Amino acid sequence: MDSLIQQLVLLCALYGAAHGVPDQVTYTPEIVPTRIAGRITQTTVALEQPRCVFDLTEMSCVSCEVWLIVANSTGVATFNSIKNGFFNTSMFTYQNAFTGPNGFYVTVKTKRDFYRCPPTAMPGQILTLRVGSEVPCQTPNCNAPLPTGGTFRMKYVLINLNLTGANVVGETEFTDNIKLLSAPDPNNIDTFPGRRTGGMVVITTILVILLFLLLAMFAAMLAMVCCKKYEQSDFPTPLATSGSLRKYHTHNLHNKSDIITQKGKM
Ligand SMILES: *[C@@H]1O[C@H](CO)[C@@H](O)[C@H](O)[C@H]1NC(C)=O
Repeated sequence: MDSLIQQLVLLCALYGAAHGVPDQVTYTPEIVPTRIAGRITQTTVALEQPRCVFDLTEMSCVSCEVWLIVANSTGVATFNSIKNGFFNTSMFTYQNAFTGPNGFYVTVKTKRDFYRCPPTAMPGQILTLRVGSEVPCQTPNCNAPLPTGGTFRMKYVLINLNLTGANVVGETEFTDNIKLLSAPDPNNIDTFPGRRTGGMVVITTILVILLFLLLAMFAAMLAMVCCKKYEQSDFPTPLATSGSLRKYHTHNLHNKSDIITQKGKM
């Protein structure tokens, strides 16, 4: 009996190795704290970057990449059913995530080095990764805006590009359900012009009067500028006046030199 169990355990271990079960990292992607604006919007979610998370996973794999998985509840099951085999990132794009059977996609490919633990702690600093921020979406695995009002779970995975078999070598936990904000119901937006408050009427009236005054001032200014131009063409410019002053000065000097010559003559 004992040997049978041992054999079973060994079989399971071998099976696991052959299928390359990803290292489970005990980390759940976190949404940034509430004080950061737009942590969850209609089409985006701000996650904390997975700094230090995969530092101890498959350490010899320098070329490994960290990817983000965005999944609906169906997609979570789909990913779990295929993660022990070869994972082809180009088959799980945003474009076919929620139209076909997948229910999830991978995006934000990042070299693992980028998320290494910083050598010095940066107190208070939160490095965010905004899911759904890429507009326009131009690559297959782009980080396109999420469907408004949808509910998703997210996790990071570490992928070893050199492996032709099971290449998902590490994974974090999935987040709980993240529900995006819904677009405001168009039926609730008040567009009926008859329902205006007294305050709005007063403000509108004041604004109209101010606008009228502003226009009047503008017209007056235009008129003044026109008249000035007209004046300038008819009357001597201030420059001519200063010219006459200079002439007067020269005249003075001439007089002085006259005096000197006269003195010299004397
Ligand atoms: C998730 O996406 C798949 C694929 O498009 C879809 O068939 C499924 O209904 C979705 N599941 C939920 C819970 O929205």
